Amino acid sequence: MQKAIGIFDSGIGGLTVLKEIVAKLPQENIIYLGDTARVPYGIRSPETVTRYSFENTNFLLAQEIKMLVIACNTASAISLEAVKKEFPLPVIGVLEPGARAAVDATRTRRVGVIGTEATIGSGAYEKAIRRIAPEVVVHSHACPLFVSLAEEGWTDNDVAALVAEKYLAPFRGMDIDTLVLGCTHYPLLKQVIARVVGPGITLIDSAMETAKEVAQVLDRLKWKGNGQGAGARKFFVTDSPSRFEAIGKRFLGSISLAAEQVRVGGT
Ligand code: DGL
Repeated sequence: MQKAIGIFDSGIGGLTVLKEIVAKLPQENIIYLGDTARVPYGIRSPETVTRYSFENTNFLLAQEIKMLVIACNTASAISLEAVKKEFPLPVIGVLEPGARAAVDATRTRRVGVIGTEATIGSGAYEKAIRRIAPEVVVHSHACPLFVSLAEEGWTDNDVAALVAEKYLAPFRGMDIDTLVLGCTHYPLLKQVIARVVGPGITLIDSAMETAKEVAQVLDRLKWKGNGQGAGARKFFVTDSPSRFEAIGKRFLGSISLAAEQVRVGGT
């Protein structure tokens, strides 16, 4: 069997990234690890998130992967560099692709970023954007409740609209024309977020941008799978699979999600 692309996330949110990778590279084998026993990462310290990332990577490496995608924004923001240094394979995070797309999209040179507390607290998006374009002004806000709304399936109702109004109000009058959805779960709330911020603001979905980068790197390395038909997909979780499978359906639609429970690190 051809080597797979390994993906990990703190839980089910990374399925938004998997979905885009499957759409772009349907022939690739994919192994996904959702660390559902330890989610959420967005409220944890950098030391803990980095330890979890190392343990997840070790687990996936044991499954013979050819490339690693850190689908979790929080883990990407905090531990991408450390993982790249420690492990001998190509590693892609979700942050840089989103940052690049935001710089390409903004005309006003003012960009908004939303994410978990840990992601926003790390300042990683701001640094990534300003590394590419130092003149771009970045306004960031944490929107922690969006994760729960997405998990609950409340992605486009009156509660979601109210929460979005409250969270996104600080961006009014800041003249941003681009908003980065800097968390795995936020693309699920895209419609409600788009309605609240209005048509003048481009939403950047890091899942889509990351899938593009995965395809480019595989092309460059000439490592693209050349199997016939759809690739194999295997799902591992660190807590009981039932919730992952039920909620994951909302993320993935038709892709079959039967998951196996495993122990990673101290889970
Ligand atoms: N996967 C996380 C992220 O993208 C959201 C959920 C969590 O806090 O673990 O930041």
